[in-house]
Amino acid sequence: MHTLTVNLSDKTYPIYIKKGLLDSIGKEIKKIYKNKKIAIITDSNIEKLYGERIKNNLIKENFLTNKIIIEPGEKSKFFKVLEQVCNKLLELKLNRGDLIITFGGGVVGDLGGFAASMLLRGISFIQIPTSLIGQIDSSIGGKVAINTDYGKNLIGSFYHPKAVFIDPELLKTLDERYLYDGMAEMIKYGAIKDRKLFNNLLQYKGKEDLFNNIEELIYTCCSIKKNLVEKDEKDNGERMLLNFGHTIGHGIEKYFQYKKFTHGEAVAMGMYAITKNSEDFGLTEKGTSDLIKKIIIKYNLPWKIPTIDKSEIIDIISRDKKNNCENMNIILLKNIGNGFIKKINIKDMNKVKFI
Ligand SMILES: NC(=O)c1ccc[n+]([C@@H]2O[C@H](COP(=O)([O-])OP(=O)(O)OC[C@H]3O[C@@H](n4cnc5c(N)ncnc54)[C@H](O)[C@@H]3O)[C@@H](O)[C@H]2O)c1
Repeated sequence: MHTLTVNLSDKTYPIYIKKGLLDSIGKEIKKIYKNKKIAIITDSNIEKLYGERIKNNLIKENFLTNKIIIEPGEKSKFFKVLEQVCNKLLELKLNRGDLIITFGGGVVGDLGGFAASMLLRGISFIQIPTSLIGQIDSSIGGKVAINTDYGKNLIGSFYHPKAVFIDPELLKTLDERYLYDGMAEMIKYGAIKDRKLFNNLLQYKGKEDLFNNIEELIYTCCSIKKNLVEKDEKDNGERMLLNFGHTIGHGIEKYFQYKKFTHGEAVAMGMYAITKNSEDFGLTEKGTSDLIKKIIIKYNLPWKIPTIDKSEIIDIISRDKKNNCENMNIILLKNIGNGFIKKINIKDMNKVKFI
């Protein structure tokens, strides 16, 4: 089993990564949780695939479990569903010493984690992420949130789990599009911090190689995120490196009203576009954007931004919650494995070509 510990100023928590971990989840949780009551928040896809397995495993260790099942997908990350989830948790009469498990992708983790942060002013929760995005990104770092009509993740907080249990075997049932969606984030980790990871991904022959190495890959990505979160929990400094490709990516996602592209697809186009531009401005080693393009194509992700109204995208970008007044931070690469933060004037985005 791979283990990592996230060390924050006021909290420390473990991340466990092991194929087949779901089948010993009851035993593992017993080591860190002494009460009996557990509320599992999951979505209906995960419930169908793994609902019985997780329940039986927890019951074997004498836990009293209840499930709250939400609809799958981004539409569940809204106030209405949050309210329903909170009401169900209250009906279950959980107290502050009890436990919530979020069992699902990033949607379940973000929504369930946010509910846990508010219920009785904060109740412990454990993340068991099931999607690649969940396993390498959203379950670590404490960001929990819901969307509103004004944009994604605008209502939320920082609330870390008690532990994260990652079973890479669960990825075998993940739809291909979501797998490649997650691959965009894995590529991002390599691009900003780890040339070896990037090169390995570039060399793999296909999905089989990927799955043969998946435990190690997840460990590497979680290590990178953990280190950045430890240095900059509240996302005011180095943690911003994780936004590589995201500035333009978010603009594209929103422009197409979150319908045409997945998050990872939009980030892939954003990574290529920003790198091609920074290369042309002499800020990035020549050839870097070609490597980004090559790896993006390899993992079935788009690299070319479709024809768009540039001014509208820039308008969307300039209204991003992470910008302050006239300035914004963009993430660039010196070369593969070396990301850096550059502060620019928002007007400078006009010089960027949306390739
Ligand atoms: N908190 C953070 O730091 C952070 C970071 C990145 C992304 N996110 C959020 O994560 C969300 C995206 O995450 P996601 O892609 O996991 O979305 P998701 O939770 O909607 O999962 C994608 C789909 O895959 C299904 N699924 C998940 N695991 C499966 C499995 N093992 N087998 C079969 N089907 C499975 C789900 O039911 C869903 O239909 C977004 O809301 C995004 O804002 C948060």
